[in-house]
Amino acid sequence: MLAVIPEVLSAAEAGEALAVLQAADWADGRITAGHQSAQVKHNLQIEEGHPVHQRLGDLVLNALGRSAAFISAVLPQRVFPPLFNRYDVGMTFGAHVDNAIRQVRGTPHKIRTDISCTLFLTPPEAYDGGELVVQDTYGKHRVKLPAGHAVVYPATSLHRVEPVTRGSRISSFFWIQSMVRDAMRRRLLFDLDMAINAATADLPPDHPAPVALTGVYHNLIRQWAEVS
Ligand code: NI
Repeated sequence: MLAVIPEVLSAAEAGEALAVLQAADWADGRITAGHQSAQVKHNLQIEEGHPVHQRLGDLVLNALGRSAAFISAVLPQRVFPPLFNRYDVGMTFGAHVDNAIRQVRGTPHKIRTDISCTLFLTPPEAYDGGELVVQDTYGKHRVKLPAGHAVVYPATSLHRVEPVTRGSRISSFFWIQSMVRDAMRRRLLFDLDMAINAATADLPPDHPAPVALTGVYHNLIRQWAEVS
C-alpha cells in the first residue's frame, strides 16, 4: 500500500527546516548506500551525527508521533532516525530496493525496513523532475508532494528518483519497522481503521457498530502484532 500522509509538518515548519538544510554542509549520498544502490545513487546527504541531522531528525520524529494517519498506516514498532537528502540539477537515484536491515548509528539497535517513507520539504513548484517513482504489482506510481507531506510505501518495492532538471529537491527519508510485518495485513488494518472513523462520524453516537468494529480492529492487532 502506498499512502500519502498529509501535513506531517505544517508549511511553515517545512519552510524553517528547509532553510536550515539549505545552509548546512552536504556529503556524498553514497555514505548510506548498499553495494548495488551505490552504483545508481547520485545525490547529497547530511551526515549522520551532524548537529542538523540530530535536530531536524527529532523535529520529524515528534511530528510523526502526532500524526494519526502515519501511525494507522504503518503501525510503527521502530522508526529509523530520519535522514536528509538533496538532489541538484542532474542528480538522480536509479532503480533499487532498500536494504532489509539498517543499523542505527552509534547504537546496538537494528531495524528491519518494512516501510520506506519520504517527507517532502521543497515546495513542488521550486523544482522540476525529482519525482519518486514506486513500482508495485499495480504498476508505477509517480509521487511529488507539497512541502510537509509524506509518502509511505512497502520497502520491498523497486523505486527510483527521477533526475532533477531545475532547482533542488530536499527531503527527509527513513524506514519503519512495523508491529505488523505483512503488508496485506497492514493494509486491511488501515482500511478498517479508516472505515471505523467514517462510520463513527456518520452514525448516531449510541450506535453499536463503531464499538464492535473497534473491538475487531484491536483484536486483529492482538493476533498479528509483534511487540518487543
Ligand atoms: Ni530507496
